[in-house]
Amino acid sequence: MPAPGSEPVGMRVDVDRYRDRAAPVDLAGIDFDAFRDRPLPAGAIRCLRYMHDIEHHTVCYLRDLLVTPAHRDPDITTFLTVWSYEEMWHGQALGRVLAAHGEPHGAGRISELRRRLGVRDRLSPMLHALGSTVAGETFPAIHMAWGAVNEWTTQAGYARLIDRARHPVLTDLLSRIMRQEGRHIAFYAAEAERRLAGSRRAQRLCRAALRRLWRPVGAGVMPRSEVAFMVRELFGDGGGRAIAERIDHRVDALPGLDGLRLVERAVEHYTTGLPGTPGPAPVTPARLAA
Ligand SMILES: [Fe+2]
Ligand SMILES: [Fe+2]
Repeated sequence: MPAPGSEPVGMRVDVDRYRDRAAPVDLAGIDFDAFRDRPLPAGAIRCLRYMHDIEHHTVCYLRDLLVTPAHRDPDITTFLTVWSYEEMWHGQALGRVLAAHGEPHGAGRISELRRRLGVRDRLSPMLHALGSTVAGETFPAIHMAWGAVNEWTTQAGYARLIDRARHPVLTDLLSRIMRQEGRHIAFYAAEAERRLAGSRRAQRLCRAALRRLWRPVGAGVMPRSEVAFMVRELFGDGGGRAIAERIDHRVDALPGLDGLRLVERAVEHYTTGLPGTPGPAPVTPARLAA
């Protein structure tokens, strides 16, 4: 039985629609060979390495989530199955861009990343299990809000990379990926709204968890230098900061989460390194979704 006041309110998202539409990102007509004649700039390739690695890391995030109360909710596990499947195909697609540039990609690159994570990665499921015990029945609400923030920032990152690289083939590919990210956003945001609205305790815990633990997607996995590069490259200019502010306004609209300025604070931190802004990612539920 959920604690009094922790009942989700409003209509459930129709997760069957997500299940029935699950598909690898459509690559029909994407001319990967075009990158051989017109390669991407070095900065864009560096961002794509990060994005490739993190899309492929989704299955490890899923592992960490399945030891939490998230696994008890069949709607959430159906969604996570679809989410993990589609994110894996995003990684595959980005791997083909890297391959066209003669860059390491796919299994070799992914196993090297996982080897490098070592003990921190082995502890991660245990820390998620323990951390989620504190949240108890409110955990799914926190997880959904966290996922919404991560998907908003991921989709914005792709949009910014399109702007920076200005390469027609990359634009086409990333636009297709962004449409699937949009569906992930719709689920996470609607479920976050519904579940937070039903529980003051969930709002309080979610607010505290996001403020203390949220880091840009991939910060718990990638070297700090790469996180800082991505944030500076994609969000460090006026256009990027405006988008960060827009995402923070979306977070503000979720019940109990106004005024956190998560994304703007992260941009400030990684572009200026000012004290008092987020430090290195801890190995805790900071890595709930991608
Ligand atoms: Fe993705
Ligand atoms: Fe996504």
